[in-house]
Parts: sequence; C-alpha cells; structure tokens
Amino acid sequence: MKLIIATIKPFKLEEVREALTEAGVRGMMVTEIKGFGSQSGHTEIYRGAEYAVNFVPKIKLEIVVPATMADQIVETITKTAKTGKIGDGKIFVLDVEQAMRVRTGETNEDAL
Ligand SMILES: Nc1ncnc2c1ncn2[C@@H]1O[C@H](COP(=O)(O)OP(=O)(O)OP(=O)(O)O)[C@@H](O)[C@H]1O
Ligand SMILES: [Mg+2]
Repeated sequence: MKLIIATIKPFKLEEVREALTEAGVRGMMVTEIKGFGSQSGHTEIYRGAEYAVNFVPKIKLEIVVPATMADQIVETITKTAKTGKIGDGKIFVLDVEQAMRVRTGETNEDAL
C-alpha cells in the first residue's frame, strides 16, 4: 500500500474529490493547513530571531491505496489540481506497512 500526501488549492477540493472517487478511491483524510513552497516562504529577522512569514492556506489530502493504484491516483490529482499557476501544490508518495479496519479487524488492502 502507498500513502499519497497531496497539497492542493482549497477551491480545487471538490473537483479533486470527485475525480478521485471516479478513479476508485474509497476514503481519504482532508485537512486545512497552511504552508509554503518555493515562493512564499521568505523569512524575516525580528528581534534577532528568524520567522517564516506568508503561509498560504492549502488543503492536505492523505489517501492510502493499493500500491498498484498509486501512479494512476497521482496522475488524477495532478491533472485535476493543476491550474498552471504557482502554488498548485505538491504530491508525496510513501510506503504504508499496515492498515486495520477497526470495526471488523480486516487488515491491509481489505481495510481500505
Ligand atoms: N518540501 C516540502 N515539504 C512539505 N511540504 C511542502 C514542501 N514544499 C511545499 N510543500 C507544501 O506545498 C505547499 C506549497 O505548494 P506550492 O505549489 O506553492 O509549491 P512550490 O514548490 O512553491 O511550487 P510552485 O512553484 O508551483 O508554487 C505548501 O503549502 C506546503 O503545504
Ligand atoms: Mg509555491
């Protein structure tokens, strides 16, 4: 299994969710976050300490899928979330060791 962590522009959430559902994704976590990428993370010195300023609101998606689906899901997110302007987001893919559906005790891909 793979964990796909994607940050997207908030106004893209509904479109991305619909595309992911069509692509067979059955569950995901959604969090409102703030962050910065290559433009917005300039720092400033204030009273001797360095602070990061200009955090930008983003939506973070966390999606666990069978490993065989990961490439297709990354492609779906990329296509749907892309505007071509700066700040379209980032996607990271990580290995997942174990999953458990609490209600039934089903594990791994059966738990997704
Ligand atoms: N190295 C990183 N580690 C973790 N999260 C990151 C990293 N870089 C960017 N992000 C996340 O992505 C968001 C910024 O996305 P953004 O699309 O602006 O990235 P970017 O690298 O600046 O690309 P772009 O040039 O398209 O703006 C941040 O809010 C943060 O959530
Ligand atoms: Mg950026």
